[in-house]
Amino acid sequence: MFSQPISLKFLYFLVLISSVTCISKHPVLIVVSFDAFRYNFFETENLPYMQLIKTKGTHAEYLYNVFPTKTFPNHHSIATGVFPEVHGVIGNSYYDPEIKKVMKMGPGMYNYNDRVKPIWRWNEDQGNGRYSGTFMWPGGDYSYQGKNITYSVGFQAGYDWKKRVDQVIKWILDPDKPANLVMLYFEEPDTHGHAFGPNSVIIKDLLEKLDNITGYLHAQLEHHNLSDKVNVVQLSDHGMTAVSPPFFINITQYITNGTYEWAGASPAIQIIPHEGHEDIIYSALKKGSKENGHFKVYKKSEYLDRWHYKNNPRSPPILVMADEGYALDDLIISAPQYAKKYNFTLTNQSEFGVHGYDYTVKDMHPYFMAIGPKIKKETKVDPFNTVDLFNLFCAILEISPTKNNGSSTPASHVLAAAGPGKYSVGTILMMSIGGVLVALLLVSLAVVFTLMAIKRQQNITTAAALNKRFPQTFQNYIEAQHLLEPEEA
Ligand SMILES: *[C@@H]1O[C@H](CO)[C@@H](O)[C@H](O)[C@H]1NC(C)=O
Ligand SMILES: *[C@@H]1O[C@H](CO)[C@@H](O)[C@H](O)[C@H]1NC(C)=O
Ligand SMILES: *[C@@H]1O[C@H](CO)[C@@H](O)[C@H](O)[C@H]1NC(C)=O
Ligand SMILES: *[C@@H]1O[C@H](CO)[C@@H](O)[C@H](O)[C@H]1NC(C)=O
Ligand SMILES: *[C@@H]1O[C@H](CO)[C@@H](O)[C@H](O)[C@H]1NC(C)=O
Ligand SMILES: *[C@@H]1O[C@H](CO)[C@@H](O)[C@H](O)[C@H]1NC(C)=O
Ligand SMILES: *[C@@H]1O[C@H](CO)[C@@H](O)[C@H](O)[C@H]1NC(C)=O
Ligand SMILES: *[C@@H]1O[C@H](CO)[C@@H](O)[C@H](O)[C@H]1NC(C)=O
Ligand SMILES: [Zn+2]
Repeated sequence: MFSQPISLKFLYFLVLISSVTCISKHPVLIVVSFDAFRYNFFETENLPYMQLIKTKGTHAEYLYNVFPTKTFPNHHSIATGVFPEVHGVIGNSYYDPEIKKVMKMGPGMYNYNDRVKPIWRWNEDQGNGRYSGTFMWPGGDYSYQGKNITYSVGFQAGYDWKKRVDQVIKWILDPDKPANLVMLYFEEPDTHGHAFGPNSVIIKDLLEKLDNITGYLHAQLEHHNLSDKVNVVQLSDHGMTAVSPPFFINITQYITNGTYEWAGASPAIQIIPHEGHEDIIYSALKKGSKENGHFKVYKKSEYLDRWHYKNNPRSPPILVMADEGYALDDLIISAPQYAKKYNFTLTNQSEFGVHGYDYTVKDMHPYFMAIGPKIKKETKVDPFNTVDLFNLFCAILEISPTKNNGSSTPASHVLAAAGPGKYSVGTILMMSIGGVLVALLLVSLAVVFTLMAIKRQQNITTAAALNKRFPQTFQNYIEAQHLLEPEEA
């Protein structure tokens, strides 16, 4: 017989082995999005965990996102590799000319083009034990091509951040259906950024919390011995710029109420003239634009080709674009609502957060960093396009991409050269089979000792291990999170 202390250690070792072998035999990828996390927040904020990932892995100074630089179009271009005119999510809202209604977030918004497959759908389509999860990712909880993925949680504002991470880890460690791809979304700093502007102390505090949740995610991966098996891509959809009331422009003063519909939000307002009013509205807005000098007016034929925004029936007949640092009627209306909701006094100095400008505007740039076994270490790559990310995800997952609008060059710069079989499928398979056999042989012994071990092992809990690594860091998320609906994503 073993003496008890040795057998307990041995059992603990076994538990570790089997927890390691539970994960997918395929490469594993977590994509984490922090909504509106601007590329240069690193310059002004103290973000040690994110800084560490940035330094140890691969990063780009920024990405070029898609037009308009809004949340839903960009998250779907990240997920699909195609431009908004192709996937059909041309704004956070849009006017549907067929049903004559303004459409908001919903399955209809995302199911415009049946040939477009988001990465989570495409991953599962490859079969062979590939399972996807989406945690609050915009559009992630809808079915595509008539099918749902294995794991998905829809948007719930204020959902405890730590619990999001814990759930993601659980999906990856699921013994029956281990996820090999998870898309994880955080609605900050966007939600509070709209109300307080990106320069506020409230945003500073949220950025620190996002840094801490980054630390927590990587600590959890380490705790489960997953750091050298799981690839993590951290990014955002867009940045944000500050706008104050003196820079709000009333554009509806130039056009006649009742002759048009509108959709979208500052700085890009979609105008849909009623039949017969197209020319009057366009010329009135053009005249207003000349008078005011801080917004531009385009009709559909004038949309810039590089926006890839035109070739879709959802794309509006007229688009009004405020210049950088300016906003339009919707913010004139919502500014006092923010003041009321968050109990502050609205003044000319109040700052609000705005995004949606051309992707060439620096403040709109998202950030990008990645770390993991398939990612180059200590590498900086040139800025690349949001639509290139799909090819990168496919390369990490070792699946061939669907047709898309991205280049595969950035992926080749981010990916580490394949090691000589270190993480090959064969090796991992053998490890898994070996682990399962050993576990089976010793299962009867294990049962006996587990009962005895439970009490002793209780001290080595996840929480204890984490507290040791990151003392008093992650305790107060629930209290700190305001349970708020985002005004505008
Ligand atoms: C997908 O999931 C949704 C929500 O859980 C459900 O209503 C729908 O029936 C599912 N669709 C399919 C094809 O399973
Ligand atoms: C984030 O973590 C650091 C150290 O780990 C801690 O000093 C700081 O107070 C934390 N910030 C928040 C907002 O929890
Ligand atoms: C993690 O896994 C490696 C092998 O993949 C093993 O050598 C190491 O002991 C494990 N560490 C822990 C803490 O389980
Ligand atoms: C606020 O700004 C507007 C526009 O610049 C100006 O007309 C107004 O006088 C300002 N109000 C105050 C209280 O300063
Ligand atoms: C814009 O100006 C028009 C005409 O003066 C006015 O009726 C309308 O209420 C203004 N819109 C906003 C959002 O203030
Ligand atoms: C504009 O017209 C609609 C009806 O067409 C009306 O409900 C609304 O109050 C009007 N708004 C303004 C600012 O006059
Ligand atoms: C709003 O703020 C004022 C002063 O800043 C404070 O006196 C008041 O209690 C606050 N109201 C609420 C509902 O928080
Ligand atoms: C983008 O990709 C779609 C799907 O492959 C294709 O139909 C479209 O022509 C592409 N657009 C551009 C500008 O390359
Ligand atoms: Zn937003």
